[in-house]
Amino acid sequence: MKKKALIFGVTGQDGAYLAKFLLKKKYIVHGIKRRTSSINTVRVDDIYLDLHTKKDKYFFLHYGDLSDGTSILNLINKIQPNEIYNLAAQSHVAVSFELPEYTSNINALGALRILEAIRALKLEKKTKFYQAGTSEMFGGYNKIQKENTPFHPKSPYGTSKLFAHWITKNYRESYNIFAANGILFNHESPLRGETFVTKKIVNGLVNIKQKKLNCIYLGNIYAKRDWGHAIDYVEAIWKILQRKKADDFVISSGNQYSVKNFINITASHLGIKITWTGKGIKEKGYDQHGKCIIKIDKKYFRPNEVNTLLGNSSKARKQLNWKPKFNINKLIKDMINYEYFNDK
Ligand code: NAP
Ligand code: GDD
Repeated sequence: MKKKALIFGVTGQDGAYLAKFLLKKKYIVHGIKRRTSSINTVRVDDIYLDLHTKKDKYFFLHYGDLSDGTSILNLINKIQPNEIYNLAAQSHVAVSFELPEYTSNINALGALRILEAIRALKLEKKTKFYQAGTSEMFGGYNKIQKENTPFHPKSPYGTSKLFAHWITKNYRESYNIFAANGILFNHESPLRGETFVTKKIVNGLVNIKQKKLNCIYLGNIYAKRDWGHAIDYVEAIWKILQRKKADDFVISSGNQYSVKNFINITASHLGIKITWTGKGIKEKGYDQHGKCIIKIDKKYFRPNEVNTLLGNSSKARKQLNWKPKFNINKLIKDMINYEYFNDK
């Protein structure tokens, strides 16, 4: 019998890669999409439309929202999934300072609503639950972060995710539900949302190269992140749910770059040589022709910043037999190629 998976957040970056990964593994995949005024299924349209023309359908979309507990319960009851992946979130850290209550409702209470549905429907024995946790929960106080590093979130986003992390553990310990947390460090891809820094840089520099844009405006370019590729990270997510006993895992590349490093590497792949001048909000990046292509805008600084993230994923590498295939150069090349050859 085919396994059934239910993905909250299927229309997002990770949801789209995970849906494709699970279909290859012969799962029946159900995904939850939100009602929006413009179509938001662009990342999964290829699998959705393809399957319209086929007789056997293995990919289904349903309307739902993490703010609506009854709809969550009804969907889980109807689908009776073997695995639930909670990837849905208001996932933008800077936006969470503008929308703290909404962010908490979706990210914190949303996870609780799914867990409560599993409990109310008595699906403990049938349904495994994955919670999309984040390195933002650490806050960057330690040089390297792993599973037992103390949490100290620095944003409403990180704080809301910490609630989801603990409620997942709590339901595992209290009700014997297979409920597992991934603590994922930043992961990017061609499908990354356009307002995250890597996509903004790649998109911006490709457009500058193609003379469609003059300049990109950024915030804190000295923040350091541990960046991986979403393709590698969704494989780890799946592996976390294939274990006999639920547990929590850090997933990271183990390499760290600053935002400024990321800009320089991307530029070099595009044949742009950047010269930097000035400091603070006056810092600027010039191309080899003396044209200013990077400026700093203070509106992109956050009220509180996680300055450094670097993960130690040795537990996952050992116990899940997981290791990433992409390094920073392969990631950036993949993102650049997509900008060049898709919808351009
Ligand atoms: P993303 O691209 O922003 O996708 C988020 C998904 O959640 C989208 O499908 C979105 O729907 C959906 N969503 C938002 N609000 C919802 C609501 N109220 N009800 C139902 N669905 C809702 O995020 P991602 O990068 O794929 O990340 C996936 C998960 O991993 C998120 O929970 C994120 O916080 C977490 N995470 C991400 C990273 C990373 O570096 N990417 C690292 C650690 C943890 P729309 O398409 O309609 O907006
Ligand atoms: N978004 C953005 N836009 N970030 C900028 C900019 C800019 O113009 N300029 C500098 N940055 C800096 C941010 O201040 C941050 O330090 C870093 O670039 C990365 O920002 P994001 O790409 O927005 O990612 P994030 O690290 O805040 O959050 C992402 O990773 C988390 C895991 O650590 C998101 O995917 C979260 O959902 C995820 O949990």
